Amino acid sequence: MAAACALSRKTAAAPQMEAGLGRRRKSSDGGSPPSPGCSSNGQCWEHEEVERPLYRQRLSPREEERLENEHFWKIINAFNYYGTNIHERVNRTEKQFISLPANQQKLLPQFLSHLEKIRKCIDHNQQILQAIVNDCMHMFENKEYADDGNTIMPASTFDMDKLKSTIKQFIRDWSEDGKAERDSCYQPIINEVKKYFPKEKCDVSKINVLVPGAGLGRLAWEIANQGYSCQGNEWSLFMLFSSNFVLNRCSQVNSFKLYPWIHQFSNNRRSADQIRPIHFPDVNPHDLLSGVNLSMTAGDFQEIYTERSMWDCIATCFFIDTAHNVVDYIDTIWKILKPGGIWINLGPLLYHFENLANEISIELSYEDIKNVVLQYGFCFEEEKESVLTTYTVNDLSMMKYYYECVFFVVRKPE
Ligand SMILES: C[S@@+](CC[C@H](N)C(=O)[O-])C[C@H]1O[C@@H](n2cnc3c(N)ncnc32)[C@H](O)[C@@H]1O
Repeated sequence: MAAACALSRKTAAAPQMEAGLGRRRKSSDGGSPPSPGCSSNGQCWEHEEVERPLYRQRLSPREEERLENEHFWKIINAFNYYGTNIHERVNRTEKQFISLPANQQKLLPQFLSHLEKIRKCIDHNQQILQAIVNDCMHMFENKEYADDGNTIMPASTFDMDKLKSTIKQFIRDWSEDGKAERDSCYQPIINEVKKYFPKEKCDVSKINVLVPGAGLGRLAWEIANQGYSCQGNEWSLFMLFSSNFVLNRCSQVNSFKLYPWIHQFSNNRRSADQIRPIHFPDVNPHDLLSGVNLSMTAGDFQEIYTERSMWDCIATCFFIDTAHNVVDYIDTIWKILKPGGIWINLGPLLYHFENLANEISIELSYEDIKNVVLQYGFCFEEEKESVLTTYTVNDLSMMKYYYECVFFVVRKPE
């Protein structure tokens, strides 16, 4: 049965979120992190999604409110500016092609018509992005954003890169094309939730599962779809706007499409690969059992979740390396898990703040993390040091990144 009420609820913003979304954001023009791809030291940033926090500083509530509004409109602006930005990129390519000697141009009769096709894909993506941010001012339960009537301004390269990553996240979370990736990243986690909280032994609707860094929400949705009470938490407005769109406004399988690969001009075997669409959502997000409890909170995991012994299970997927200091994450997880509760983790250690000037970043090896986890008192139930996964991989690309993720299940003793 469709559980419209579970999903039609607005994205719930925890009280702390009002501070979290604005106060801790830095102007994205101030020294961007590496774009997806590889930085000069060979470090790969394919899953860089972090909106960068400010140094924690005390601001008046008014100043916080102002910064939060500014941040909100900056991200909306990025969604609106997308088309202009990507068209400029294509125009540059066209200009360069036209500057080639005529005999060389003649060798490539399809080149310009391919660019025309890309232009159509850009316009389509722009329409979807506009649909995503339509009504976003009203998506939070405890916060409204007044329309500021801003005209569209050029957005930073940093924000454009994040928007392109968010578009790719639709593949991972909500398309048939992302199934293999979900099978390798989400399924092991779902299996453990089911194993430690089996339907035969407990009322799963009373088991509270938290998914910090929930991205576009598919893992949280899948856990809720098994009957558990699940809350996703996310601080990126790029992600929150998009998950709100899928979870609350999509109700027909594969009724939308996006062209996530048009931004990739290198490593295409065939031109057609660049302009192939993905369709979403591959499931109807409203098809949850009635009474199932699924919610999303907006804001910084560490600021929102301070209540002790609240959660039966915490599931982190490609998340712990988003920390400035992963020990802080472990500390929060320890405190908010119930005694006897389970923490399931899968992901690499691609520290998001490494190489960012003026950002604290404590990069621990897995060995060090494990030692810290043990010293907190967690007991290891399961551990695999090399689970092969990808993150928003382009299956047809001539270049792909693979991760050998660590996977563990630990228990906080009773
Ligand atoms: C690499 S993505 C993983 C998303 C998702 N779990 C997946 O596997 O596809 C990490 C996510 O964590 C979010 N994030 C980073 N730091 C966070 C924080 N302190 N609180 C909440 N979310 C955070 C980012 O915005 C991003 O969406």
